[in-house]
Amino acid sequence: MPEKLKIAVMASGRGSNFRSLALSCLEESFPAAISLLATDNPEAGALYIADEMGIETAVVDCGGRRGSMTPDSSSKLAELFRKRGIGLVCLAGFMRIVKGELMRIYSLRMLNIHPALLPSFKGLHGQRQALEYGVRYSGCTVHFVDEGIDTGPIIIQKVVPVLQEDTEETLSARILKEEHRAYPEAVRLFAENRLRIEGRRVFIENEKRRNSDAD
Ligand code: GRF
Repeated sequence: MPEKLKIAVMASGRGSNFRSLALSCLEESFPAAISLLATDNPEAGALYIADEMGIETAVVDCGGRRGSMTPDSSSKLAELFRKRGIGLVCLAGFMRIVKGELMRIYSLRMLNIHPALLPSFKGLHGQRQALEYGVRYSGCTVHFVDEGIDTGPIIIQKVVPVLQEDTEETLSARILKEEHRAYPEAVRLFAENRLRIEGRRVFIENEKRRNSDAD
């Protein structure tokens, strides 16, 4: 069996996407394994999940400014990942824009999950934005990370309906369920080396979806 791809997950909050990735990684046939959970928040729920699952953790002070990270913290994270032979970084509710060395070293080897159908409703509160805008469908997107905010090439999207009676909470819960399917699927495709980027488009080798698939 080929060696599994080593991944690091970066999360700032409760960590449900981290958990779903970690659970997928427990499956013998899954081609990736989580080597490290990195967070900027010493109180992140994700830390408890990592402890429970026996996954190594690192808390890195990324600086005081909300949404941004210091060059030092970026280099420190890059070094932590490099030393462990991390081949893919998964942002899962990491509340800062990745910049500096980490971005340079892991460009095209870093994914993010966003709770809306990009390119709509980028940034914070994608679910609230969708509800307020009045769209009939929303969902989630897994994409490569580039220098922008939620702008990198799209790998997978899952669609959910927005219902008349929805609140931000009910819509978020419906989307989250799909997030927990989408992220492991995207990581599997990456780990199996089945993604090819051309410009903005990501082509998936041997994709099983057809014209008629509702997904
Ligand atoms: C998710 O909705 C994800 O799409 C967004 O941040 C949230 C993180 O949730 N980027 P969790 O910490 O994975 O539960």
